[in-house]
Amino acid sequence: MTEAGTASERSPHRVPRVGVAVPAAGSGRRLGGSRKPFIELSGEPILLHALRPFLADARVVAVVVALGAEDAADPPSWLTELDVRVRVVAGGASRAESVGLALAVLPDDVTVIAVHDAARPLVTEDVVRACIDLASTGVGAVAGCPAVDTMKAVDTDAYIVSTPDRSTLWHAQTPQVFPADMLRRAYEQEGVSATDDAALVERAGGRVRMVDGGPSNIKVTRPGDLALAEAILRARKSP
Ligand code: CTP
Ligand code: MG
Repeated sequence: MTEAGTASERSPHRVPRVGVAVPAAGSGRRLGGSRKPFIELSGEPILLHALRPFLADARVVAVVVALGAEDAADPPSWLTELDVRVRVVAGGASRAESVGLALAVLPDDVTVIAVHDAARPLVTEDVVRACIDLASTGVGAVAGCPAVDTMKAVDTDAYIVSTPDRSTLWHAQTPQVFPADMLRRAYEQEGVSATDDAALVERAGGRVRMVDGGPSNIKVTRPGDLALAEAILRARKSP
């Protein structure tokens, strides 16, 4: 008997086939113009830390890493020899463009797609699993954490416009994981103008829920973040 229906029509109880898109083609401007994914933390490139929790999940069938054009033309062996599921493509001028280019080469038959920034090396296997579990039920899943500071909305001169109710606010991180057709449709309909993937899915009408990614799932953005990430890794290793 052949399998009936498209990937999305199949029962959500089946084991999902997960594709992962990893934007890693940024210029690391706030970190002094460095190739951020290749900087080492605890002796391993940031990108490798970011990939491992996904490769540890047996439901992940394909990982596409979008690198800067020069690196994509000559990728490092620690990446090409890491795992047969990993492929490299050249990224684009913006994060969303890089994600779009990675989506284009993920296999057509993946049922769930995770997007994860190469610049988040501290994501854990538990958070990856929880996001994939939720997306497998047909809902988008975004790792993040509830706001702990009082938040202010401001105008362009930093004058406060309002104080939104903090209990309704979360910081959004990655991974952001979606039913594959939900994400693909959002990228087709909404183009590539957003700072995260969920914003496109929200605009396209998809339901998306936050998953607690913990406060240590930081994005390495400014120089001080490297020491912070090292300290968090060290703390996790110590008994
Ligand atoms: N990214 C990408 N393609 C781009 C821009 C960003 O793939 N054209 C990726 C980055 O490599 C990173 C993720 O998107 O993994 C989040 O972006 P960010 O932290 O802003 O990294 P950079 O854009 O490299 O840093 P900066 O904004 O300071 O230049
Ligand atoms: Mg950037």
